[in-house]
Amino acid sequence: MEVTNVSEYEAIAKQKLPKMAFDYYASGAEDQWTLQENRNAFSRILFRPRILIDVSKIDITTTVLGFKISMPIMIAPTAFQKMAHPEGEYATARAASAAGTIMTLSSWATSSVEEVASTGPGIRFFQLYVYKDRNVVAQLVRRAERAGFKAIALTVDTPILGRREADIKNRFTLPPFLTLKNFEGLDLGKMDKANDSGLASYVSGQIDRTLSWKDVKWLQTITSLPILVKGVLTAEDTRIAIQSGAAGIIVSNHGARQLDYVPATISALEEVVKAAEGRLPVFLDGGVRRGTDVFKALALGASGIFIGRPVVFSLAAEGEAGVRKVLQMLREEFELTMALSGCRSLKEITRDHIVTDWDQPRTHPRTRALL
Ligand code: GLV
Repeated sequence: MEVTNVSEYEAIAKQKLPKMAFDYYASGAEDQWTLQENRNAFSRILFRPRILIDVSKIDITTTVLGFKISMPIMIAPTAFQKMAHPEGEYATARAASAAGTIMTLSSWATSSVEEVASTGPGIRFFQLYVYKDRNVVAQLVRRAERAGFKAIALTVDTPILGRREADIKNRFTLPPFLTLKNFEGLDLGKMDKANDSGLASYVSGQIDRTLSWKDVKWLQTITSLPILVKGVLTAEDTRIAIQSGAAGIIVSNHGARQLDYVPATISALEEVVKAAEGRLPVFLDGGVRRGTDVFKALALGASGIFIGRPVVFSLAAEGEAGVRKVLQMLREEFELTMALSGCRSLKEITRDHIVTDWDQPRTHPRTRALL
């Protein structure tokens, strides 16, 4: 079957992967309300396209933390990619660099920072989980720096792992031939089988629940890399992130895998953007499956978006070629959305190009009726 959109990879991955692996990637926390909402909220935002604008040339290049990339579509960190495909993070790294965009490597990758760096040039960020043993963190951050990673995406929404019931039922653990490769030499690379989710037990054993804003400052004493705070959903925390020296914010609900019944990230975005007052860039992940979603996020003030599940599902289906195709489909759909909305560059995308369900009723009665 020819794949014609990003979402179609999920069903293919489901057929290909062992149930334990597929469920781990696919599931969200508890009732999975936020998991649905991350998608549904996009569908409540409609366009107000402008017409009769010469769109024969469209430029979607952009700059993130000073790095020029080919489009505002980047790769979010997702754990254990070799569980999806034998080439795992290697394939993702190659696909990202071929597309001229940024890959974020998970702390819990099944390939190390050095291995991913060895795939060749590319702009890469490193997602960080803070372990109780701060020496582990300091060593890992140093290794990421040495391997040429350009920023740290600090996950701040996971003092405890969210309750993912499929993982509990499946007694989720890594297949025996895989490890958390970055931690292998530190004797923390194995995930034991547990009486519930093996990952939840690993997290409760290793991850530091005391993590607080002062640690964002501490991190700046051990690295000169810019720090993106990943997992912000409110104006209050946006202001503290700025005071704490963050270089950027990622509006994220961890793919709806942590606290259920938080809003969709696309619904939380504007609050964060307003509080940021242009003092640092705001990015978004969660539920992006279409070029129209990318446009909506940019119209609400995001500087770019990250995709997570589409990467693991396409990786499972077709390896590197699948991830390349996902990036290409999103690029083409996004360019199409720009053309049909009358935008030729990212700065021409404005808040007036969309109408949301939280806007005051606007000028256009038919649009109002739809919302
Ligand atoms: C890892 O970060 C996960 O959410 O499973």
